Amino acid sequence: MHNLEQMVIELSEAFGPSGFEGEVRQKIESFVGNYTNVTYDQFGSLIAVHSGVSVYPKVMLAAHMDEVGLMVRGILPGGELRAVMLGSWWPPALLAQPVVIRSCGGDHLGVIGAKPPHYLREDERNRQLKLDDLYIDVGARSAAEVQAMGIKPGDPVVPAVKTRPLSGQSVYMGKAFDDRVGCVVLANVLQSLDARHPNQVVGVATVQEEVGLRGAKAISPVVQPDICIVLEGVPADDFPGGSIVQGRMGGGPQIRRFDPTMIANQALVNLMVDTAEQCGIPYQIAVRESGGTDASAVQVHTPGGVPTTVIGIPVRYAHSHHGMIDIRDVAHTVTLVKAVIDRLDEKTVNHLKQNPW
Ligand code: CO
Repeated sequence: MHNLEQMVIELSEAFGPSGFEGEVRQKIESFVGNYTNVTYDQFGSLIAVHSGVSVYPKVMLAAHMDEVGLMVRGILPGGELRAVMLGSWWPPALLAQPVVIRSCGGDHLGVIGAKPPHYLREDERNRQLKLDDLYIDVGARSAAEVQAMGIKPGDPVVPAVKTRPLSGQSVYMGKAFDDRVGCVVLANVLQSLDARHPNQVVGVATVQEEVGLRGAKAISPVVQPDICIVLEGVPADDFPGGSIVQGRMGGGPQIRRFDPTMIANQALVNLMVDTAEQCGIPYQIAVRESGGTDASAVQVHTPGGVPTTVIGIPVRYAHSHHGMIDIRDVAHTVTLVKAVIDRLDEKTVNHLKQNPW
């Protein structure tokens, strides 16, 4: 059994933008391989089956392995690299941040450059930064120098960030918590289940969520779960000036009733709420005005549909170089998911399927 902090560090530091999840998958397999039966689908997602006392119902737990990143598009004559996004970035969040480019010549450090403020015209100062204004600078002076490093169009790029604890002890700062904290919960739950759960647990680590839930769409018809819980690093909303706070870092797992892409099975949400209260686990309820997760894909890409919701671990500054999480939220999510699995027997799942509201 690996401790939670160690898993958070290893999985968040793993290199894995959308379409390049190999290192993350390897880590997850190293965590769960001795506890589950691991296979892959043809798109790269990992499937880890943990058998209980019954093959029905099939409980799918899903977390996505990919992080938002960039891909080298081309090399400018001066040696700067243009890039496309793998997933959605707010361009100003990229400015002056360190990145690592994985090339056939190895990993290279760079920084996201832009025209320096000293040289900006007045009209340029007042305009929002776009991806076109940015480039990756690996310290080269010419395209030839970049080519000599082995860097080519198509090379993937992620933030160059180490995961570190902050003074508050339980808070960590690092990259890719969306959704490596979900991967941590997935791996931890799979490691700690015994064979007595009244169902079959299918842990799925999906690829390419950040570019449109592509891995979840591909795998749902294959797994055909009876019920699905998506484990996500969700954006915290406890910033100054926020009025309705439903995702406070340290406030416990966030159970989602709604986002514009998914109306959760409300009976499943109610079961989770009851479970949290019975176990004394703090929780938060989310009704989101924006956003979406793999849950929306699993819900409708499983033939006949499937009861689904999302459990979120609040992440401050998701989709930036430095996210923040409270490790206690991760621990509480593990406890809650395990307690919910214990309650998802045949009778309960049949009831949820027939009475979703
Ligand atoms: Co995510």
